[in-house]
Amino acid sequence: MTAYDEIGGHSAMKLGVAVFYNRVVADPLLAPSFEGISLARLRAHQVAFLSSAIGGPQAFAGRDLRAAHAAFSITDEAFDRMVEHLEFALRDVSTPESVTAQVLGVVEGLRGAIVQPARAVG
Ligand code: HEM
Repeated sequence: MTAYDEIGGHSAMKLGVAVFYNRVVADPLLAPSFEGISLARLRAHQVAFLSSAIGGPQAFAGRDLRAAHAAFSITDEAFDRMVEHLEFALRDVSTPESVTAQVLGVVEGLRGAIVQPARAVG
């Protein structure tokens, strides 16, 4: 039994991801990056991405995550906030702690690809 099965598979993941992005777009630090972005498409990609990260059958066919985030000048603070919303959302849909820890571990490993290095001024 994979972590994906343990949480209740596709419907549980869809619910968790919906809670996650509802929180993200209500957060003034993060919301500006999502203006004009199709949330339906983003939710579908995130479901596929997180599912495949914890043993689900879906393959993630989206873009390389470094390329997908390059335009948004994402800071460590924004990344941390995103992780907090994800953690809250997973708990909100009663994800077992061991699975939450597994998901957050995978996500932490993406920090270097998603956060933009600070540029020197001048
Ligand atoms: C916590 C870690 C994060 C993960 C795991 C993550 C994951 C993803 C995934 C899987 C996609 C879909 C890629 C595709 O289109 O194929 C995506 C897109 C996107 N992410 Fe993230 N992301 C994270 C953090 C962030 C942060 C901190 C921001 C902004 C503050 C952000 C903004 C976006 C935006 C705006 C898109 C849509 C890009 C587009 O369609 O052009 N992400 N992300």
